[in-house]
Amino acid sequence: MGQFRFLTAGESHGKGLIALVEGMVAGLSLEAEYINKELKRRQQGYGRGPRMEIEEDKVEIISGLRYGLTIGSPIALLIPNRDWQNWWEVMSTAPPERQAETVTCPRPGHADLAGVTKYGLKDIRPIIERASARETAARVAAGAIAKRFLEEFGIAIHSHTTAIGHVSYEPFTSCHSEAEKRPKNLAQDKLHEAISINWQQVEASPVRCADSEVEKKMIAAIDEAKANGDTLGGIFEVIATGVPIGLGSYVHWDRRLDSKITQAIMSINAVKGVEIGSGFALAKLRGSEAHDVIEPNSPPVSAEHFPSSSLQGASATNQSLSWRHATNRAGGIEGGTSNGEDIVVRAAVKPIATLANPLPSIDLRSGEIAKAHYERSDVCVVPAAGVIAEAMLAIVLADACLEKFGGDNLKETLANYHNYQLSIGKD
Ligand SMILES: Cc1cc2nc3c(=O)[nH]c(=O)nc-3n(C[C@H](O)[C@H](O)[C@H](O)COP(=O)(O)O)c2cc1C
Repeated sequence: MGQFRFLTAGESHGKGLIALVEGMVAGLSLEAEYINKELKRRQQGYGRGPRMEIEEDKVEIISGLRYGLTIGSPIALLIPNRDWQNWWEVMSTAPPERQAETVTCPRPGHADLAGVTKYGLKDIRPIIERASARETAARVAAGAIAKRFLEEFGIAIHSHTTAIGHVSYEPFTSCHSEAEKRPKNLAQDKLHEAISINWQQVEASPVRCADSEVEKKMIAAIDEAKANGDTLGGIFEVIATGVPIGLGSYVHWDRRLDSKITQAIMSINAVKGVEIGSGFALAKLRGSEAHDVIEPNSPPVSAEHFPSSSLQGASATNQSLSWRHATNRAGGIEGGTSNGEDIVVRAAVKPIATLANPLPSIDLRSGEIAKAHYERSDVCVVPAAGVIAEAMLAIVLADACLEKFGGDNLKETLANYHNYQLSIGKD
């Protein structure tokens, strides 16, 4: 991480979560309510467990703000765990009067066995507590600050679910969708509607799916898994619109925007695969089919040449440019550098490891075969993972904007950004 950095602390059933955010410029307006809205979005989603009914995440901004504006100092955020009142004895930081029962049957697919061995512990409880995705509430809070900053550049970030278990679909915004995949005989004025995701519909959907028929099937699949004591994974897509050309670089491996984004998304608990743009599908195409043709940006654009992701974002970003990409299979990044199109990232989420019908494991006390540990758990977290990915993508893009445009206060940063935009395409 470069200028914009953050760390988190906190156990799942500890007193609370903390994010320490560093590197944000002074002069950005920010309210706790803005962060709370993002926290609420993370808590929603069909398939979450009963924990989410207990918690109603609210942030307290401890430092780094004065009168609603950032002041350039580190921003400390606190999210109390309401469930702490039921766990204070189990998670006491001081030696307790009586110790809680130890957990000794590791869950296959969780951090339990590797964690308890690595840290030389006899009890799996500390591993459960920190490997838990409860920590991602702190990331979403930090990401909300990044999102607020990116708004100043006209950058917006959305996510939606494209698969849960076997139920999947290819939305028109996907980089895989080419002109020939779009409905035939669609009137020109309906085309934009058809290739745009309706984000309001996504926000209203319990599984964050833009297609109501697919949504019903996803919900049924989650119900079925739950009834069988099982869990389900899936795929989410996260899209950033309005991203300027030139973020990141090809000059070093660790300056590549795609490598930073994939690390950030892969760091989300239970994410097992990440692709940018058409990703793995590109491997099957010929070069002539795979790349995004560069063409003059002279409206009206031919119906055959819409970028596969949001047209609005791409054309707004490129207003001062005289070129555009005919498609967006690269997902907005070429040579580790943003190319002015929407950044499109997809990730595969595995089914979570805590099963109501537990898998076989061993008891680490005796070495005997035993059922894996079970405690209340989510059944499907794909919609929530998408919201967390929005935060992680926002953090990477905010850092990339600060690296490119610099500055210690928002006015300075935005002046640099506008100068850069004016310079594009000029001698
Ligand atoms: C939003 C969210 C909620 C999660 N909830 C649970 C849960 O309730 N039970 C569980 O076993 N895993 C849950 N996970 C996944 C685990 O945190 C994750 O599988 C574990 O930390 C091991 O890491 P790995 O899967 O990345 O290898 C959740 C993940 C996310 C993104």
